[in-house]
Amino acid sequence: MRNFKNTLVTGGAGFIGSHVIRRLLNQHPDMNVVNLDALTYAGNLENLRDVEANPHYSFVKGDICDAALIKQLFEKYRFDAVVHLAAESHVDRSIENPMAFLETNIMGTAILLHATKNAWIGSEGDRCFYHISTDEVYGSLGDEGLFTEDTPYDPRSPYSSSKASSDHLVRAWHHTYGLPIVISNCSNNYGAFQFPEKLIPLMIRNIRDQRPLPVYGKGVNVRDWLWVEDHASAIDVILHGGADGRTYNIGGLNEWRNIDLVHALIRLVDAKLGRPEGTSMELITYVTDRAGHDMRYAIDASRIEAELGWKPSITFEEGLAETVRWYLANGEWLDSVTSGNYTQYYETMYGNR
Ligand code: NAD
Ligand code: DAU
Repeated sequence: MRNFKNTLVTGGAGFIGSHVIRRLLNQHPDMNVVNLDALTYAGNLENLRDVEANPHYSFVKGDICDAALIKQLFEKYRFDAVVHLAAESHVDRSIENPMAFLETNIMGTAILLHATKNAWIGSEGDRCFYHISTDEVYGSLGDEGLFTEDTPYDPRSPYSSSKASSDHLVRAWHHTYGLPIVISNCSNNYGAFQFPEKLIPLMIRNIRDQRPLPVYGKGVNVRDWLWVEDHASAIDVILHGGADGRTYNIGGLNEWRNIDLVHALIRLVDAKLGRPEGTSMELITYVTDRAGHDMRYAIDASRIEAELGWKPSITFEEGLAETVRWYLANGEWLDSVTSGNYTQYYETMYGNR
């Protein structure tokens, strides 16, 4: 097992990053964690309210594309681990505005890699640059099969291409410069603090508010859902135990067609709000499909289970019920992140529905 004293987490104010920071601080009380986040529309310090007073935690507002800032941070904090989550993460936005994705996901990763490599030249002891990636780099599956770590890359959206590029850069810095790295490719996450441009929180909010539920195409695309806290535990396990240079797929063996998931959310939210069963079914609205919409993602996570003993801790039924409970109990969070720019985004994407 590797041991780290000073960890740089990028994108820690986002959905997954906030859970990763909480997990690292709770599980490794001696670890110092610095959160570098540009606080884009997706970053929110409210997600970390419960840890901000922890003396082992610090926040730095800044961009991973700022090489001088990253150099300064390495000099100040002497990081021995980097957990890199900062990214533009929403496929629909990548279709609207691809350049921001190339800038942050590709150039940002390259800048971070180079600064890390320069800072670690000649250093002793455990070091790890951990790149958090996505199953979307593998492309789209038909009815059969699962993505393994050996599935050839076949990204099809500006988002997934930019993530695939960043994965290649991370491997290039490992092979060329000897940078110690690990990469993981995870399936769709769900849970608390997810920005409601993504399917599950968007649907929960719209069911709560009795607004139309925009289902792309025929609703038959399939995603493999994993509870975000299980992703955070997998990241912790890989950071500390993953083999240098190795890739791990992370997933929940939990495939759902979008329309079936929307039905499940309707049942849960309506029940929780005391409405008669099926009340919100009539809100389902089939809308124009996403351009280049990947049909199916499904992960074979046998490597991480066999080599590192990780598997999901809860069932989807438990996780989804807890997620619905959380969003309904945290209406203020949901309302605050959907004020301002979100309204404009929603109108651009979905019109006045
Ligand atoms: P998110 O959009 O919720 O958060 C991204 C965070 O990165 C935000 O806090 C944002 O402010 C920050 N950020 C963006 N650009 C930045 C920049 N240039 N410099 C510094 N900070 C910047 O994303 P998420 O869903 O939490 O995803 C986190 C990572 O996990 C991403 O790399 C994503 O590709 C990957 N991932 C996500 C999922 C998923 O289902 N959400 C699944 C697999 C992998
Ligand atoms: O697979 C991992 C990826 O999962 C991550 O790398 C991405 O960062 C993350 O955003 C997610 O990508 P998806 O495109 O799969 O997630 P999203 O929640 O945007 O959409 C899930 C499915 O639901 C997809 O098939 C599109 C569909 N959808 C989405 C929205 C927002 C709808 O039908 N209606 C919607 O309004």
